[in-house]
Amino acid sequence: MLKLFLGPGVSVVELAEQQLAIRGAGWQFVLRQASRGLGHAVRALAGAGATREELADQLLEHDGPAELARLYYHLDEWRSSGVLGAVAASSTGALATLAPLPVPNPSGPLQTGEPAPDIPYILSPFAYLRRVDDELMVESSTTGARILLHDPRARLLCMALVSAHTREALPHAACGLSRDEADDLCAVLHQARMLVPARPTGQPQDEHEEPLARWQFHDLLFHTRSRMGRHAGGYGGTFRGAAPVQPAPALKAPMSSTAVDLYRPELERLCAEDISFTRVLEDRRSRREYGTTPLTEQELGAFLYRVARERATAAGENGVSSDRPYPSGGASYELELYLSVASCGQLAAGLYHYHAGEHRLYYLSPMTPDVRALLEDAARALGRHEPPHVLITLAARFPRVFWKYESMGYALILQNVGALYQTMYLVATAMGLAPCALGGGNPDTFARASGLGRFTETSVGEFALGSPPHPRPASG
Ligand SMILES: Cc1cc2nc3c(=O)[nH]c(=O)nc-3n(C[C@H](O)[C@H](O)[C@H](O)COP(=O)(O)O)c2cc1C
Repeated sequence: MLKLFLGPGVSVVELAEQQLAIRGAGWQFVLRQASRGLGHAVRALAGAGATREELADQLLEHDGPAELARLYYHLDEWRSSGVLGAVAASSTGALATLAPLPVPNPSGPLQTGEPAPDIPYILSPFAYLRRVDDELMVESSTTGARILLHDPRARLLCMALVSAHTREALPHAACGLSRDEADDLCAVLHQARMLVPARPTGQPQDEHEEPLARWQFHDLLFHTRSRMGRHAGGYGGTFRGAAPVQPAPALKAPMSSTAVDLYRPELERLCAEDISFTRVLEDRRSRREYGTTPLTEQELGAFLYRVARERATAAGENGVSSDRPYPSGGASYELELYLSVASCGQLAAGLYHYHAGEHRLYYLSPMTPDVRALLEDAARALGRHEPPHVLITLAARFPRVFWKYESMGYALILQNVGALYQTMYLVATAMGLAPCALGGGNPDTFARASGLGRFTETSVGEFALGSPPHPRPASG
């Protein structure tokens, strides 16, 4: 038995005579010229719910057969847009519940219709199973649909669908289900697009369908969950961790007792003498060749000062906030710069942390095998044998962002990485240095090199910096 229902918090409102609205938080579907029978059907869906057959019987009683096609039309419309949820139930209770979409979508991300009995189906490669409270939930990153698997027999059926089966050949008895119960479960999985036609090879058709086939599971999940729309829960700056957790401070305390004061350029002179902004934009290139004379300490100091120093602080209700040359979502400034120095003036080779408030480096370690591995990974990403003079690892202090932002915290961090990359590129270009952003790095290597916890603060970006083989016109 498949019972349809409107989600909790959804109400049926009478707008005028024969005009009803199905209304949820921030959305509504309006029904014009709604017959008495249709009104009854909608109210039944908002109450205890009803099967398609029960709704049809009620409608026939009130309106006669003329309105039946309209009822079916609307049921399909509400199922495909995610207004309606569905419970697959056995005589002993609910087997599984397809939740209505938190924000129904008129473009119809879900589908109606039964899976054909003789076509092999398989679980979508974009479906995934996880525990939510004390329930097991299967979700799909293509539709955002969620099905709670209440009964162990429903879980067994999902496991059976890891390989392709026609509905007729499904091992329903082995799962402890009747044929009808298995059919109902297939219907909700199919409606959520978690059950997809299988290729003869057993490969899910989804994978072969353009443009979905280009997506990898984790990319689509990250995209769906970090943008608005196809998921429930808060989004944006909801201060989800506000109590009892406090935000991490804007600046980290010095990480060692060995500090290196850095050169500070004269900003007034730079404002007067810097090469033009358009020249900088037009000359900006990724440069992967380095001079035999390494980057100087003065260049490194000027670069970090112009890119990343703390210009000012301001006290707000959520603690002290920072002001820096590069933008940062919510002024979080969660990105910390760690420098793996291969060769830079008289600086000892090794790992340093940049303190943006003090404009100083704090020495963390000599050139350990893990620091060397960071530089070697960078050399590989640059397609070179030799590492850059300095590798700047951008590490995010995750709690500083996750304390405030919901659903999109990690995406925001990556956006901040992009903003910082571009600032680094522009400053390095203005200074005539050799800059190059790097698209990948190893957070485990960084965690070993820095001793920092992988879930507290680790690498989310890398940037290679060096002196160029041929000096360029520069300021700094
Ligand atoms: C996010 C990002 C990641 C990058 N990753 C790498 C990389 O791993 N290795 C590399 O040699 N260049 C990398 N680059 C540099 C690009 O290859 C370069 O920007 C692109 O080819 C355009 O050339 P241009 O920067 O000289 O204009 C990256 C650039 C960006 C913005």
